[in-house]
Amino acid sequence: MFYGGFSMTSEKVEIVKGVYWVGAIDWTLRDFHGLWTPRGGTYNAYLIIDEKITLIDTVAPNFSKELIDRISTIIDPAKIDYLICQHVEPDHSTSYADMLKVAPKAKIITSMRGAEFLEKSYPGVKFPIKIVEDGSSLGLGKRSLTFVQIPMVHWPETMISYMPEEQLVFSNDAFGMQIASPYRYADQIDDWYEPLRAYYSYIVRWNAAAVLKAFKKIEGVPLKIICPSHGPIWRKNIDQITEIYHRWSSSPEKEQAVVVYSTIWKSTKQMAYAIREGIASVGVPADIYNLEEEYLSRAQGAAMEAKAVVVGAMTYNIDPYYPTAAFMPYLKHLRPTSKIGAAFGSYGWGGGATKVLTQQLKDFKFSEVLEPLDVQFRPTEEDLKRCFEYGQEIGRKVKAAFS
Ligand code: FEO
Repeated sequence: MFYGGFSMTSEKVEIVKGVYWVGAIDWTLRDFHGLWTPRGGTYNAYLIIDEKITLIDTVAPNFSKELIDRISTIIDPAKIDYLICQHVEPDHSTSYADMLKVAPKAKIITSMRGAEFLEKSYPGVKFPIKIVEDGSSLGLGKRSLTFVQIPMVHWPETMISYMPEEQLVFSNDAFGMQIASPYRYADQIDDWYEPLRAYYSYIVRWNAAAVLKAFKKIEGVPLKIICPSHGPIWRKNIDQITEIYHRWSSSPEKEQAVVVYSTIWKSTKQMAYAIREGIASVGVPADIYNLEEEYLSRAQGAAMEAKAVVVGAMTYNIDPYYPTAAFMPYLKHLRPTSKIGAAFGSYGWGGGATKVLTQQLKDFKFSEVLEPLDVQFRPTEEDLKRCFEYGQEIGRKVKAAFS
């Protein structure tokens, strides 16, 4: 059967014996509520065949049929006993009503807050809910699930489900990324780092402290397989992926910088490139993003790992030009308290952009904020030399932070 995303349901993915991926692939997704998804996305659900038949999570609006058809290639959906609701955001919960039509004896297993959020998200729908406590287990036959609540990763009701017999965790949004691929496992995909980073920085980083708390809760738990609710499944190098997540949640900054800017008549662009050259000249890798041409979430991913973030905008009336102004909340949501910040831009007469940006960097609690750099109208050779030296100063500060 073909669907809106042009996926077929004949693909059968058995992760370990009796545990199947039965999600949906959205090949055409390009914007996941603000997250740039140039390679599409997936909504993962997992089917466990045991004495009790169990479905972990569901899929996004318009993909219920794909989910149900995939399940039907393995088992009659009417035999499902449990629907595990780990997270109520609509990309995972919208299909519960459709699932209950084909699985009428199923109970929805969720946390106390999950039950509350389900009822408030789908007013008028009577869900057959069984609430489970943090740390409680549910026997399925030969296997079992232990539910671990991980509030604010990234909603208050979020929980994950651990299957000790297989050392496998259904991690919901954690360890996820948005990418549509012919492959279901991360070790089959070479370039997963940037999509994973973009997803983490946009969706998870704001709640980094909650991620660290979640790590504490599962400390010492043996783990062989991570099944997230988006993107590929992790079955190799588990220590590497958990280390990356831990680093991003504690100290994501590397010895590198990023310059982001927006411009109309290219004066600020000239400044941006001169500053970037200055940073690079002292041996600090510096990336550069024109915010008019890039999705903001792509620049955000780079900014998360940068020690210095240099934001540029020409003055539009009295404010930063819109693309840079729109980027600033993305920067704020990285919790950039260990970063060096600086602002630059060109103006015609009154100016104002760099003043606004500099104040925002201070409000976001950057650890250090430089005095801004302004150029009136078109930068002269002398102005570009000032930009280069400004970049050198930033680069040296980055180096000093790691020495
Ligand atoms: Fe994939 Fe927070 O939903």
